[in-house]
Amino acid sequence: MSTDEHPPAHARLSVIGRSAGRARPCPFDMCDGTGFVVDEQTNTASDCPCRAGRIARVRAAQLEGRIPRRYQGVSFERPPVSDIARTAPDQIQSIRRYLRTIEQNLDSGRGLWIAGDVGTGKTTLAMLVSKGALDAGRSVAIYSLPRLLNLLRESLASESGMLDFMDRLTAVDLLHLDDLGAENQTEWVLEQLYSIVNARYEAQRAIVATTNLMPDALAEHLGPRTVSRLVEICGDPIPLYGCDRRLEHRPEFPQQSEHALLGASDLRP
Ligand SMILES: Nc1ncnc2c1ncn2[C@@H]1O[C@H](COP(=O)(O)OP(=O)(O)OP(=O)(O)O)[C@@H](O)[C@H]1O
Ligand SMILES: [Mg+2]
Repeated sequence: MSTDEHPPAHARLSVIGRSAGRARPCPFDMCDGTGFVVDEQTNTASDCPCRAGRIARVRAAQLEGRIPRRYQGVSFERPPVSDIARTAPDQIQSIRRYLRTIEQNLDSGRGLWIAGDVGTGKTTLAMLVSKGALDAGRSVAIYSLPRLLNLLRESLASESGMLDFMDRLTAVDLLHLDDLGAENQTEWVLEQLYSIVNARYEAQRAIVATTNLMPDALAEHLGPRTVSRLVEICGDPIPLYGCDRRLEHRPEFPQQSEHALLGASDLRP
């Protein structure tokens, strides 16, 4: 069975964003939204200046651009972000500042990253940024790093698959990489990660990232060349330390009630 009949998962995924599924009007007012300017006298067609942008959007539309369900309602006005604002107001200010000028930030390839302990709200804040970019009509690809690497491995199955996937990862307006440093390290993984970060660095494209490691530790983990580029794209990481908030939200299961503390013999009639 050919890969054309069953495209790999990375090629099947859909994106949300203003442009998905609709032809947009030509921003230059030169074509009818097709990306081609037709000269009716000579009956020839040439590329419209808007065509490059159209191609980039179509490529990005095949990446994962959906805010995961848990983070869909994320907002400054609601917990947990309003709770985080009480203990980490400067960090929330940094995110607000970035979002205020999101268009310029994305156009100039400026990103941000958040580093800190497990369960402190890093992914939540990064999702605010991705949501802001989507709301601004930009294309966003959201991946946890281990998943992205799995999809890259899968894309190797077809000849052009991997290059194509890499191209799409470079073309998207914002690449959201969650859990940097949580991947299993191999030479291949480090190389791929470097390729992704370097391609975006060269194309001046923004990255938003989260990690449990500060830059020095991350450089040991991922290599200094990757981290040096990330620092230039994202600046200094926004620190978010503290206790694991997931522990406060864990459900109380019946087993934890006093009945569960009874031994098996106490349950016999
Ligand atoms: N300051 C906070 N106050 C209340 N709840 C919070 C706070 N920070 C995070 N949470 C809640 O804790 C959980 C973990 O948040 P999140 O996934 O953003 O953490 P994280 O820092 O990305 O964790 P990890 O390092 O494990 O990826 C979520 O359920 C979130 O709603
Ligand atoms: Mg996280």
